[in-house]
Amino acid sequence: MKTTHIFLLFLELFFISPIESSPRSSSSQQHFLRSTRKTSGNHRNEVAPQQYFEVTHPLPTDDVTPACSVSVLDHSFGNTYGSPPVSVNYTPPPATCEWSLAVLEFRAECKGEQYDRIAGIWIDGVELLRTSTAQPTEDGIFWSVRKDVTRYSSVISKPNLTLAVMLENLVNDEFTGVYHVNVSFLFYSDKVASVPTVPLFMVPGESGAHTLNRKLISVEISENEDKIEVDRVLNSLYPYNKPADWVIPISSGLDDGFWFRIQDEFHIQTTNVEISQKTYKAVLELYVSFHGDDEFWYMNPTDSYVETNHLATGRAHGAYREVLVTIDGQLVGSVIPFPVIFTGGINPLFWEPVVSIGAFDLPSYDIDMTPFLGLLLDNKSHSIGLQVAEGISFWLIDANLHIWLDQSNVNAETINYKVPSMVIQRKSEFALLDGEFELEGERSSEATGSVNSSFGILKTQITEKTKFKSKLKFKSEGTMKQLDQKIKKKTKIKITNEIGQVIGSLKVKTEYPTKISIDTQPGVDKDTFVMTTKVQQERSEKFYGENYSRILNHKQNCSGSMVVLGNSVLSGSSENHQNYNYQDEFGCYSRNVDVVDGNLVGDQTFLICDD
Ligand SMILES: *[C@@H]1O[C@H](CO)[C@@H](O)[C@H](O)[C@H]1NC(C)=O
Ligand SMILES: *[C@@H]1O[C@H](CO)[C@@H](O)[C@H](O)[C@H]1NC(C)=O
Ligand SMILES: *[C@@H]1O[C@H](CO)[C@@H](O)[C@H](O)[C@H]1NC(C)=O
Ligand SMILES: *[C@@H]1O[C@H](CO)[C@@H](O)[C@H](O)[C@H]1NC(C)=O
Ligand SMILES: *[C@@H]1O[C@H](CO)[C@@H](O)[C@H](O)[C@H]1NC(C)=O
Ligand SMILES: *[C@@H]1O[C@H](CO)[C@@H](O)[C@H](O)[C@H]1NC(C)=O
Repeated sequence: MKTTHIFLLFLELFFISPIESSPRSSSSQQHFLRSTRKTSGNHRNEVAPQQYFEVTHPLPTDDVTPACSVSVLDHSFGNTYGSPPVSVNYTPPPATCEWSLAVLEFRAECKGEQYDRIAGIWIDGVELLRTSTAQPTEDGIFWSVRKDVTRYSSVISKPNLTLAVMLENLVNDEFTGVYHVNVSFLFYSDKVASVPTVPLFMVPGESGAHTLNRKLISVEISENEDKIEVDRVLNSLYPYNKPADWVIPISSGLDDGFWFRIQDEFHIQTTNVEISQKTYKAVLELYVSFHGDDEFWYMNPTDSYVETNHLATGRAHGAYREVLVTIDGQLVGSVIPFPVIFTGGINPLFWEPVVSIGAFDLPSYDIDMTPFLGLLLDNKSHSIGLQVAEGISFWLIDANLHIWLDQSNVNAETINYKVPSMVIQRKSEFALLDGEFELEGERSSEATGSVNSSFGILKTQITEKTKFKSKLKFKSEGTMKQLDQKIKKKTKIKITNEIGQVIGSLKVKTEYPTKISIDTQPGVDKDTFVMTTKVQQERSEKFYGENYSRILNHKQNCSGSMVVLGNSVLSGSSENHQNYNYQDEFGCYSRNVDVVDGNLVGDQTFLICDD
C-alpha cells in the first residue's frame, strides 16, 4: 500500500539517489504503480470501464430485494491527503422497516493513474469495513464490496450517529485518479433468510458429491419455521451468532482517521473502557493493515543485513510481526494477520481484474475475551492496549469490543490465564547480498473464566496454539528473493455448566501459508528491470462446532513477469488462478477463477460439495 507520505519519500529517493535504480535496490522494492500511460496493447481497444472484484461467496441476501436501504455517502476522494475523514450523518431506517440482517455496500469507481489506497469506514468510531482500492486504468474501473454487518446491529440501529470514511489520496498532474465512493446499507427482514432447499450438510465420507442450492428462496413458510431458519443461519456464525448488545470502539477518534497509526514495537495505543456489569460475553474484533516499510513485513530481512549492505531501504527488522492485545498491560491475546497483498504489491498485473485475497474486505480477527470478564467487571475503568510485536512504521489498527448484556448484573471471575509471549528461534546467515533468514515461533495460551448470569454459572475455557514459520532467502547477489511462510493457529473453546457438563464447544483452525518469489534482472532499455514474480497463498479457516462446521479455503496462484522503470510497471504478462471453497451446514460454494494478462479466461461456480 502506497500512502502519500511514503510516496513522497520514495520520489525523493528516486530522484536524488540514482542508486535506487540499481539492481540491488530495485530488488528491495515490492510496491509498484501499474502505469497506464506507458502501456502498449491490452488496454488500447477497451473503452468501457472494467469491473474488478474479489473472489468471495455471495451473501444469502444478494438476490433478495432489501426491506429498505439507506444511502449514506456519495463522495469523490480527490486530493484528500492530510485531511480528516469524510463525515456524514448516519440515520437508521425508519421504525416501519423491520430488519434483522444488514449489509454494507461500498461502491467505487476510478479512472486515470493512481496508487492503491487504504480505506476504513466507521460509525461512531466502530469500524465496519477495512478495504483497499484497486489501481485504476485509463478507461476506468469500478467495483463493489458487500459485507454482512449484522454483527454491528446495536450500532447501526441508533439514530444521530456519524459515519466516517477515511481514504487518503493524492491527486496532481501525474496522479489523476479520483476515487468516487458510495456507501449504503441494505436491510433485510427475517423472511429472506430462509436458506436451504436441501438442508443437510454433507456427510463426511459419503461417496460422490451432492448439489446443494444455497440460493435464497422466497417460499411461503409459516412464521415459526421462518424464525427457526433464521436462528439456524445465525447460529452458525460464532461468535456473532447473536449480534452484540453494545460495541465499544477501541480506536483513536483523532482527525487522521479512527485507526491508530502504530509506528514501532514500542508504540502502545490504549483505550480506557468501563464495561457494563451486565456483560456475560465479550469479543474483541481487530482490524489490521500494514503499510510503509512494513507493507511486506513478511519479506523483511534483518536490520544487520540492510545495514551491512548499506541498502537505502527501511524495510527490515526481520519477518515476524504479531498484533498484541493487553488488558491493563497484561497480554491477553494476539493475532498474526493474514498477509493481504494490495493491488500495487509484488506485481500489480496479477491483481486486475481479480484482486488479491482480502484486498477489498480485509479480514478482521476475533479474540474471545469472555474468560477475562473477571478482570473487567469491577465497575472500574480498564485500559485495552494494542501494539505490534517487532513492528516498524507503520500499522493501522483498531478494534471493536463487542459485549453481550444480561438483564441484570452478573458476577464474573477470571479463574486462571497464561498468555506467554511468542518463543522465537531465529537463524540468519548472509554474505554480502545473499542470505537466509529463518524464524520459527510458537505460543500456547490458556484462559478460563466463569460468569454467573441468568443462564447459570458458565465456565469458559479457551486454549490456543499459534505456530509461525518463515524462511526468507536472498540469492544471486540479492536479485532473487524467496519467501516460504506459514502461520497456523488452533483455538479450542469449551463452555461447561456448574455440574461440569459441556454445553458448548468449538474448534477453530486457521492456516495462512504464503510463498513468494521475485527475481530481478536488468532490462533491455536503460534503467529498466525485468522482474519475474510468483505468489502462492492460501487462507484457510475452519470452524467445527458440535453440530455444525464452517470451512473457508481460498487459494491463489499467480505467476508473471513485468518490465519496470523505477516503481512503474511498463509492460508484462501475468496469470492469476484462484480457487475459492466455502461450506457450511447449508451447503457448498466453490468458484474457480483464471485470469491471463488481465483477461478473465475462466470463471466457474459450483454448488457442489466435494472432498
Ligand atoms: C453513486 O451514486 C450516484 C447517485 O446515485 C451515482 O450517480 C454514481 O454513479 C454512484 N457512484 C458509484 C461509484 O457507484
Ligand atoms: C437527532 O438530532 C436532531 C438534531 O440534533 C434532534 O432534533 C433529534 O431529536 C435527534 N433524534 C434522536 C432520535 O435523538
Ligand atoms: C459503579 O461506579 C459508579 C460510579 O463510578 C457508582 O455510581 C455505582 O454505584 C457503581 N456500581 C456498582 C455496582 O458498584
Ligand atoms: C449466582 O448468582 C445468583 C443470583 O445473583 C446468586 O444467588 C448465587 O449465589 C450466585 N452463585 C455464586 C456461586 O456466586
Ligand atoms: C447438537 O445435536 C444434539 C442431537 O441432535 C442436540 O441434543 C444438541 O442440543 C445439539 N447441540 C447444540 C449446541 O445445538
Ligand atoms: C500454479 O500455476 C502454475 C501456472 O499455471 C502451475 O504451473 C502450477 O502448477 C500451479 N501451482 C499450484 C500449486 O497450483
